[in-house]
Amino acid sequence: MNTQAPRGKQPDEIRRDFPIFSAHPDLVYLDSAATTQKPRRVLDAIRDYYEQRNANVHRAAHTLATEATVAFESARARVRDFIGAASVGEVIWTRGTTEAINLVAASLREMELTRRDIVITELEHHSNIVPWQQLAAKIGGKLKVARITSGGEIDLEDLAAKLGDKTLIVAFNHVSNALGTLNPVAEICALARTRGALVLVDGAQATGHIEIDVKELGCDFYAFSGHKMFGPTGIGVLYGREDVLETLPVWQTGGEMIERVSFDGTTFNRLPYRFEAGTPNIAGAIGLAAAVEYIQSLDRAAASEHEHRLLALARSGLQQIDGVRVMAPDAPRSGVLSFVDEDVHHQDLGTLLNEQSIALRTGHHCAMPLMERLGVAGVTRVSVAPYNSEEDIARLLDALAKARALLA
Ligand code: ALA
Repeated sequence: MNTQAPRGKQPDEIRRDFPIFSAHPDLVYLDSAATTQKPRRVLDAIRDYYEQRNANVHRAAHTLATEATVAFESARARVRDFIGAASVGEVIWTRGTTEAINLVAASLREMELTRRDIVITELEHHSNIVPWQQLAAKIGGKLKVARITSGGEIDLEDLAAKLGDKTLIVAFNHVSNALGTLNPVAEICALARTRGALVLVDGAQATGHIEIDVKELGCDFYAFSGHKMFGPTGIGVLYGREDVLETLPVWQTGGEMIERVSFDGTTFNRLPYRFEAGTPNIAGAIGLAAAVEYIQSLDRAAASEHEHRLLALARSGLQQIDGVRVMAPDAPRSGVLSFVDEDVHHQDLGTLLNEQSIALRTGHHCAMPLMERLGVAGVTRVSVAPYNSEEDIARLLDALAKARALLA
């Protein structure tokens, strides 16, 4: 086994930043693609906000309200810098990736459209399928699905063939939640641009692992969730290019997103507030900014190398087991490796692994059409974060051998 230590903070130091591992010292947590654990810095930031600065934002002149507003808007500025957005007007708070995608789909539904077709890929999870399916049905467009190759990568030739003068938007993930495939985002954005289509990237599985610069990627929209990058649940971001957002009709309506209201009509606030109706998730935004700070405190290149090393160890261990098939073994990947056990049902495997303190997700991973395309009922997914160690992978392989000895 490769025992080379990663640069920067070591995994056991990183692990000590996460109180859950003190509460569960035996835990092997390999389910970070579902949600990451939270570092103390994030928990402290949320507690500090509620204990020291709790007030509503953008509404009152009192001191606490000012402090809460400053913290909330500083969080937005931190996220702007983290993703390389041009301005804070391009950073819209949402509940998460799913809501961000729904915002775009719902808003497009209200537009006078000359283009109506939507292109997605076989690699998407339900959050990046269903809103587009609904939109296509509403606007009378076609939902076109670009194929994946047998290696689990987006088939770029097929994608290009599916684009046309009627393509309204292309939506695809940066990293597949089910297979871990890392997709060539900039290349797909450039391709879509040649056909005049908008592009939305689902970055839920990317932001915790990969440095993002939305300008370099060349997308119109980039959606992600706080809880998959060490932040709290219930907060996420829709990045939108300012000139594109300016053309979108408002989505949810009510307080905060308005400029002036009378019984005769309403005018709407400027970006980003016109897409943020009601009291926002203030503590969530502050917690997400603390998560960004935490990520930035790590040596990101070293953390990424470490994760790749763990997945390579898992892959070579799994490939030595007769009856176990690693999915998309040679695809470029990030954070995730999945496998199918031909002899043991994935649910039984999940249960037996759990009994040995191995936490991971099995099943369709909210990507039923992908499972159908792969011809499997479900997969077992190993997903890693910088707090995982080589010992975690060794324990997984050992627990798997024990489970298979019982069931296979
Ligand atoms: N989308 C999350 C996952 O892949 C919930 O597990």
